[in-house]
Amino acid sequence: MNIALLQTLREAEGQFVSWPALLEHWPNAGNDIDALIAFGYSVEIQPILGVAYRGPCERLCPDQIEWNLNTRRIGRNIAVWNQLGSTNDLAARAASSRANDGLAIFAESQTAGRGSRGRVWVAPARSSILLSVLIFPPDSLDNPHWLTALGAVAVAEVVSEFCDVDARIKWPNDVRVNGRKIAGILVERTQGSVIGIGLNVNTAEDDFPADLREIASSMRRLTGSPHDRSDVAHALLRRLDHWYNAGISDGPASLDVPLHARSEHLNTDVIVETPLGDRTGRLEAIQTGRGVTLLAADGSRVHLESSDVRSLRTI
Ligand code: BTN
Repeated sequence: MNIALLQTLREAEGQFVSWPALLEHWPNAGNDIDALIAFGYSVEIQPILGVAYRGPCERLCPDQIEWNLNTRRIGRNIAVWNQLGSTNDLAARAASSRANDGLAIFAESQTAGRGSRGRVWVAPARSSILLSVLIFPPDSLDNPHWLTALGAVAVAEVVSEFCDVDARIKWPNDVRVNGRKIAGILVERTQGSVIGIGLNVNTAEDDFPADLREIASSMRRLTGSPHDRSDVAHALLRRLDHWYNAGISDGPASLDVPLHARSEHLNTDVIVETPLGDRTGRLEAIQTGRGVTLLAADGSRVHLESSDVRSLRTI
């Protein structure tokens, strides 16, 4: 696929790009444009005016996702499947080889998508980002809470950027906008660590089951128009890679600032369920992957290790 040509058309923002301008760079432009159309891109061809971009293809395009990706670790290899049981399962199987470090697996639909706490994750075909990333993190980062936060921060940043909204993280694994869930993260560990991400991109209101309609959202619902999922996938891999690299060079605390900035719970009164009973207090700090600090009503500070935080909710 000639993505450089595609980008030239896209940059013209709906205007025609003349044939001479295209043929000067790409002598086979006619064939390349046919290939784009065959893949599913919407392109208008005029013999005199030239060629104009009319819209993205409905399916994910691996070439478009990879174009200028320039990530160091995450997304070094990308696979797009039409249908899988669960992207997390395939990524876990790929963990038998360290050569798959950074592998990103996307699926257009899943027949056995998993959510957290044994729930299912359902998304209409071609509506969402269903992604699993396989990594072999250093011990300092190989903690499910830290990896969940990595996924949540990256997703929240992408949703905020594309939809111009304030996407927030509801501890530990939900990304929400105006109190409605738009994405969830499911980290699973085998020989490597798998970060599974389900992000509602073009899900229409009617696509949500009736019981979720009032509490779920999608990027399309937020902006009123569909998004190019390959662009979303590209941006998401870049943000994941950015924070993962920061973690590797600066340690796990590098995620504290973005997590604080996006946390729904920080500076609110919370109940934390621990193995030794519930603790209440104002959530003062989240040390990503290491624990939380509560300011109790009597003024004392309590630090809870992340492994002791079973649940955390606003009072
Ligand atoms: C949650 O319950 O909030 C977590 C949902 C995680 C869903 C994603 S979709 C891609 C990956 N594959 C799965 O089976 N689950 C995760």
